[in-house]
Parts: sequence; C-alpha cells; structure tokens
Amino acid sequence: MELQKYIERFKVTETPFYFYDIDLLKETFSEASAQISTIPNSTLHFAVKANDNATILRYANEYGFGIDAVSGGEILKAVEAGIPGNRIVFAGVGKTDREILIGIDHDIMCFNAESVPEIDIINKLAAQRNKTARIALRINPNVDAHTHKNITTGLEENKFGIALDDMVDVIRRIQALPHVSYHGLHFHIGSQVLEFDCFVQLCHKINEIQDRLEALGIQTQSINVGGGLGVDYEDPMGHPVADFKGYFQTFREHLRLRPGQSFHCELGRALTAQYGALISRVVYVKQAKRKQFAILDAGFTDLMRPSLYQAHHKALNLTSDGKAETYDLVGPICESTDVFGQDETLPATRRGDLIALLSAGAYGHVMASTYNSRPLVGEITSEDIVL
Ligand code: LLP
Repeated sequence: MELQKYIERFKVTETPFYFYDIDLLKETFSEASAQISTIPNSTLHFAVKANDNATILRYANEYGFGIDAVSGGEILKAVEAGIPGNRIVFAGVGKTDREILIGIDHDIMCFNAESVPEIDIINKLAAQRNKTARIALRINPNVDAHTHKNITTGLEENKFGIALDDMVDVIRRIQALPHVSYHGLHFHIGSQVLEFDCFVQLCHKINEIQDRLEALGIQTQSINVGGGLGVDYEDPMGHPVADFKGYFQTFREHLRLRPGQSFHCELGRALTAQYGALISRVVYVKQAKRKQFAILDAGFTDLMRPSLYQAHHKALNLTSDGKAETYDLVGPICESTDVFGQDETLPATRRGDLIALLSAGAYGHVMASTYNSRPLVGEITSEDIVL
C-alpha cells in the first residue's frame, strides 16, 4: 500500500479517516479474478459486509464480481452500483419480510436460506409477487475453521445453517413448495482462515454430501463454499495480496464439482483488507508510571476489531523518523478496551504525528459507530486525491 505518496494531503485532512489505495484494490481484484477463472463456471461474490464503499462496489462490478449481501440495504447498494440481481446471493439467519421482498423484486440469483420457517416465508412472499425464488440451502458442515471463536461459523454450536441430518427433509420440502425452487448448497466455515486444511475438510464434506444427494436423485446446480480466506495482519506490506492462488487451487483439487454445476465463493476480507488504512493523529503523548501512551484521535468507534476480537493492526508513524521508542497506542473513548496495541515500537512520537493503522479495509468503516456522540469516521480513496 502506498502511503508516503499522499502524505501532504493527509497532513491537511481532518482525522481520523479511512484511506483506500485503489491501485492495490485493482491489483487484488485482478489476481482474485485470474485465480478463480481456473475453476470452470465460477463466480466470485464480493461480501459487501466487509466494505460497502460505493467506489469499491463500482470496481466489483467492473471486474464482473457478484455480491454476497446480508441485508436488504446491501442488496440496494449493490444494485445502485450497477450489479445485476442475478449475480447477488442473499444470506443471513434473520431476513425480514421487507428484505426478502427486496431480494424477490430484484430477481436475485438465490436466497441462502438457513431455516424452515424462513423458507416458508420466502415461498409465501414469492407467491404474492407471482414468482419463484431460488434457494441455496446453507448447511452447517461442522468443520472447525481454526480461527477466533467470535468469527467461527461452521460448528454445530453456531446459530448458522441447517444440520446435516435435516438436509434431505428440508430439500424435499423446498421441492414440494410451489414458489421456491431448490438451486444449490451454501457453506461458510468462518473468517480469517489461514489453514487451508480447513478448506480441504470442507471439500471432503461437500463431496460426501453430493454423493448422498445424487444417490437420492436430487440435482444440485450450484455449490457456494462461502468466504473466509485470511490476510497477513502482521506483515501487510510484505503480503499486500492474499493467497488467492493457494485458495482456489485447494478447491480445484479437492472439490468434485458435477458436470454443469456452478462454483461460487464469497470473499470479503481477502479482497479489501490490505488496501485500507485508518489514518489518525496523535492528540497527546502521556508518560504514565509504567507505560508511555500515544493517545490517538481514533478510537474503537472508528476501528472496532481490536476491542472486539483482540485483533492487531500494524501501526506506522507516517511523520516521524526519530529513534525507536515503546508506546501503548490507545484511543480517546472512555473505556479500557479502547486500545490498538500494547508495547508497540514506533519512531519517537509527538503530538500531531500521523499514525496509520494498516489492514483496515475490511470490517473497518462498516463497523464504525457514533458512540460518545463522535462523528462517523470518513473515507477517502486515492482517486479522490490529486497529486
Ligand atoms: N459469507 C458469509 C456467509 C459470511 O458470514 C461471511 C463473513 C463472509 C462470507 C465473508 O467472510 P470473509 O471472506 O470476509 O472472511 N467482523 C469480523 C468478520 C466477520 C465475518 C462475518 N461473516 C472481523 O472483523 O474479523
């Protein structure tokens, strides 16, 4: 990610704000596109929940990506960016009637359905519109993603998906209802997954499921393996682009797709994390009894991941090249969890210095809040800056 190039603009911009490097976005999208194209009949759905910035959605459309939406609002944002309904999938355990109607009215590719009551409601609402809605059934495969427990989704104790034991009955039910059709299967084991063996296990599970369904004469048109590909938070400059090659190779080698079947995945973090940074200013440097604190004007209201998941975002001081010192990097919010890093080594840091928290392009701005009546953090892209 290029930051120094933009420093003069950063110095005069009100902080904190998110900065997005569009050159890196394009490089990432190109690589993801090239690698998924090694799997026939495949579509990459960008998980909007990671970053719903209009510029990114515009690029997602330009690269021919589909969308993974988890709310009616996300469907509308995708449609506004020009993405056609037939490239949108809609997931979520608690879709409301209003949101389901948004999906039906935009003729989305499919609803990733998670329960019998949801399927019944989709059938009822599609009948009102005199349409048939396609359903991909989200299966809980009980595969451990070996990631933080708060972002693990594919275990039996998680609220997501339909249990394997109930799968056939639920498919039969979909087939019996007049205004829904059985389209495919959907999975998602978790996020920030770095051990590809977890995806291999998922492939084996899907292969077993497919054999079982085939023996019963059930035809499945699409297989959606969800998202989850992780990024390098500790060395974002060294690894600016995620390992799309290894990820898609895993599915190419281990997933047995049937002739004519389409392959889908829903990546969020891997597509956007590394091209975003949260830029903030040091308000005070405070020497306490045991610690030296660099207090930023950004807090967990702007970047929640460290407080919520004990995540670590690499910090850079963009305006100092002084001797290295040790700081706890904290925000201004009146809560003890408002900490970005402990014992961070940074060049000697003073009031007014600009600090960049890297790898913040995914689950950064979208999770920001106005707690403490703070203004919602802004966003600028490299395309907004004239050099
Ligand atoms: N598909 C489904 C059904 C999902 O639930 C998610 C993410 C994705 C795809 C995209 O996953 P990704 O490729 O981005 O790993 N806020 C957390 C991450 C929550 C992920 C929620 N689901 C964080 O900041 O780490």
